[in-house]
Amino acid sequence: MGVSHRVLSVLAAAAVSINPDDPLAGLAVGEQPEPAARDGWTTVSVRAAALNHHDLFSLRGVGLPAGRLPMILGCDAAGVTADGTEVILHAVIGDPAAGGGDETLDPKRSLLSELHPGTLAEQVAVPARNLVPKPASLSWEEAACLPTAWLTAYRMVFTKAGLPADGGGKVLIQGAGGGVATAAILLAKAAGHTVFVTSRDEAKRKRALDLGAEAALETGARVPARVDAVIETVGAATWGHSLKSLRPGGTVVCSGATSGPNPPADLTRIFFLQLNVLGSTMGTRDELAALVAFLDRTGVRPLIDDVRPLADARASFERMSQGELYGKLVLTV
Ligand SMILES: NC(=O)c1ccc[n+]([C@@H]2O[C@H](COP(=O)([O-])OP(=O)(O)OC[C@H]3O[C@@H](n4cnc5c(N)ncnc54)[C@H](OP(=O)(O)O)[C@@H]3O)[C@@H](O)[C@H]2O)c1
Repeated sequence: MGVSHRVLSVLAAAAVSINPDDPLAGLAVGEQPEPAARDGWTTVSVRAAALNHHDLFSLRGVGLPAGRLPMILGCDAAGVTADGTEVILHAVIGDPAAGGGDETLDPKRSLLSELHPGTLAEQVAVPARNLVPKPASLSWEEAACLPTAWLTAYRMVFTKAGLPADGGGKVLIQGAGGGVATAAILLAKAAGHTVFVTSRDEAKRKRALDLGAEAALETGARVPARVDAVIETVGAATWGHSLKSLRPGGTVVCSGATSGPNPPADLTRIFFLQLNVLGSTMGTRDELAALVAFLDRTGVRPLIDDVRPLADARASFERMSQGELYGKLVLTV
């Protein structure tokens, strides 16, 4: 009688084919091989995971070539290690030493689900250094929202923008409806800065005021006062306005370009007013730990649009691809 080898599997949401025009056609919610154990890596039982636009991009083949399929999707999660420690997962897989002490600058860095299986699964494996303790004050759902959009906003506001550490700065946040933008509003407000936002949509402007913005303007409208920093994720549609809204010596921090990546650079304004133009992507493990500590201390919490079981992941992907979210989409295990 032959010996049968059982391949252990986990429930997961995975990309099984690439389709640039119909990304959900390549989504499979079902059994996938459990993540392989590696030296220096830890397997975490996922309690909650959250979706990002990155997951839809992956299904379109952006950053995920067909040769790597099937690939479990997902960058964000919180869960429990084998010894019972409650953790939040840092999604940047990189070597800090290769990036001068910052893993986001490692030329070989990747995000979970690009080279290694992602978080939308019952189990996920990450390097041991990518575990950040989860405080009891955060629910599983809240903790799962932090590793991508919230970490990106944290690095922009606290590390890159050059705002005063003890508050009192003025910051403009473009595209108030976006996930990074809403996180930035809540973080900048809680840090004691005056927040101005723009949005094309009246309901989103109203919500930004409810989140603590001082003024909510139509896209392109004059700001009440020149700002120290702009949080820019919209790109071409707001870039000129971002530069015009800065005080001399101010800083625009850019982590995305939803409306297009190639606006006129306006170099004269940049050199004459000595503006700083900074790119930003994700954040470090230490910044994720600092973000978690900030939320624990201040009571700021992520906005959650919808929570459903992992088995219903397709419905969450459909909701994300239809747009108009207010907060994160969370899947529970
Ligand atoms: N670098 C990183 O580490 C990182 C991490 C996360 C996300 N990102 C990137 O950051 C960007 C923001 O992502 P997100 O998920 O927060 O939000 P998002 O859904 O991409 O939307 C951002 C905002 O852009 C505004 N917008 C879109 N098209 C516009 C147009 N034609 N004119 C004016 N405004 C427009 C909208 O604001 P209103 O509707 O309020 O006007 C929207 O809420 C994306 O490009 C994403 O890929 C980068």
